[in-house]
Amino acid sequence: MTTQDELKRIAAEKAIEFVPENEYIGIGTGSTVDFFIEALGKSGKKIKGVVSTSKTSSELLAQYGIPELPLNDVHRLAVYIDGADEVNHMLQMIKGGGAAHLNEKIVASASEKFVCIADESKYVSRLGKFPLPVEVIPSARSLVSRKLLAMGGQPELRIGVTTFHGNQIVDVYDLNIDRPVTREDEINQIVGVVENGIFGHNAADVLVLGTAEGAKVIYPGQD
Ligand code: 5RP
Repeated sequence: MTTQDELKRIAAEKAIEFVPENEYIGIGTGSTVDFFIEALGKSGKKIKGVVSTSKTSSELLAQYGIPELPLNDVHRLAVYIDGADEVNHMLQMIKGGGAAHLNEKIVASASEKFVCIADESKYVSRLGKFPLPVEVIPSARSLVSRKLLAMGGQPELRIGVTTFHGNQIVDVYDLNIDRPVTREDEINQIVGVVENGIFGHNAADVLVLGTAEGAKVIYPGQD
């Protein structure tokens, strides 16, 4: 039997093919990305540098001697590689299981291409079974939660988590996300919301899926 970690590794190793040499790239956060950083370090690919989205990814990049630089110092990122908590056939995603979706959305939006890497359990017909992470300003947590409740979701504070930017995460269960772009905008318009984990505007361009039959490369709208 192939474990979930093995499937993540299959996707991560295949994604090396999408990394151009002599360019700057962006890198996300999570266990699939950890496999990707390892594969990148071992690949011998010559890249100019990486913009990272979390301390964990930065530490791993340093271990492999891969140069890192801040987003403000880079004009162009050729590609952004990151995992997802859920991804649909249009390659829209829910992210933020690791509470890093704000940094991830910033770096994704600065990149020319988004390559999502995931094991096959993440590929879903409908977004929303995974609770939607919403980063909130701490003092607005109750206000935002009431608005999310009015939208039909069940908000729950993620206990013990403070984001990179000093905010809190409210995870929203049972929310209808059948129109991801509309929902992403609606939630971000609530005063006190910093960013939510729907990647509708920043959907991936390519999905590299780790399956028991090997890596599958999927484009938006493909079955
Ligand atoms: C972090 C994320 C991750 O991409 C997502 O949680 C997937 O993680 P993993 O690769 O460990 O399954 O959005 O904020």
